[in-house]
Amino acid sequence: MSTASSLPIVRTIGDLRQLVAGWRKEGHVVAMVPTMGALHAGHATLITAAAEGGARVVTSVFVNPTQFAANEDFGTYPRDEAGDVARIAPAGGHAVFAPGVAEMYPEGFATAISVGGPAEGLESDYRPHFFRGVATVVAKLLLSCLPDRALFGEKDYQQLLVIRRMVTDLGIPTEIIGHPTIREADGLAMSSRNAYLSPAERAVAPKLHQVLAEAAEAIRGQVPPAEALIAGNRTLDAAGFKVDYLELRNARTLAPVADTGAEPLRLLVAARLGKTRLIDNLAV
Ligand code: PAJ
Repeated sequence: MSTASSLPIVRTIGDLRQLVAGWRKEGHVVAMVPTMGALHAGHATLITAAAEGGARVVTSVFVNPTQFAANEDFGTYPRDEAGDVARIAPAGGHAVFAPGVAEMYPEGFATAISVGGPAEGLESDYRPHFFRGVATVVAKLLLSCLPDRALFGEKDYQQLLVIRRMVTDLGIPTEIIGHPTIREADGLAMSSRNAYLSPAERAVAPKLHQVLAEAAEAIRGQVPPAEALIAGNRTLDAAGFKVDYLELRNARTLAPVADTGAEPLRLLVAARLGKTRLIDNLAV
């Protein structure tokens, strides 16, 4: 175990278990915030929320290779461990779990967790490998730490539902807590990938949230969802986005909805701006 500004950085599952066992002996509640690093204020808010009530918080920093396809940005994903560590202590975190790839995927690794239900459609239509990689690494992170609770952002709404499903199905003894999306002042959801945007793209990017807000308001005002979604698609096209999907779904199951009955609804969008793929979502 090494430390930076008195924050323990553990690299192995064995060291993580030892650290957590010490906290348990002292009677602490343990919380975990899994991340891929390149931490921003959205991540920091999750860490602060995780520490509420005096819990000891492990933040994991691991750019997970199995959730990237060969043509995606694994190689260029922003990595800044020193910067991440410097953000974690002020946010209220107590330790960093930063394993190497060989710790998470030992030689001969041959196991994967495949989730159906909420993992079907939306992101999976465009990133078919994605949730298998996420579910497998999150299961391993949770089993390595066995936290009382783990926090995930609603920013990645489908991911949050997939992780809830997996944890319920596998009986992992961790409460999964969703945290509202943290946004820039202009509405753009904070994301490590926002760093890829050129200044011109960055100026256009908040349209994504605006379109969600407008569509949500239209649907609340009894505009037929199909009509609101067509208008949203048009606005995004005109602004220069290539829309992967803009959809209205059941907020609990992500099943498609034809009408706006009593079920809670969620609008979800994924769109590319130049080389950058952005996702966002909003409750209706
Ligand atoms: P990453 O994109 O680093 O996000 C880590 C956590 O921070 C996720 O739960 C994500 O939803 C949350 N988050 C990101 N931006 C946010 C924002 N603007 N507001 C609120 N929460 C936000 O998601 C992943 O990493 C990975 O898939 C992971 C779960 C760590 C598995 O590898």
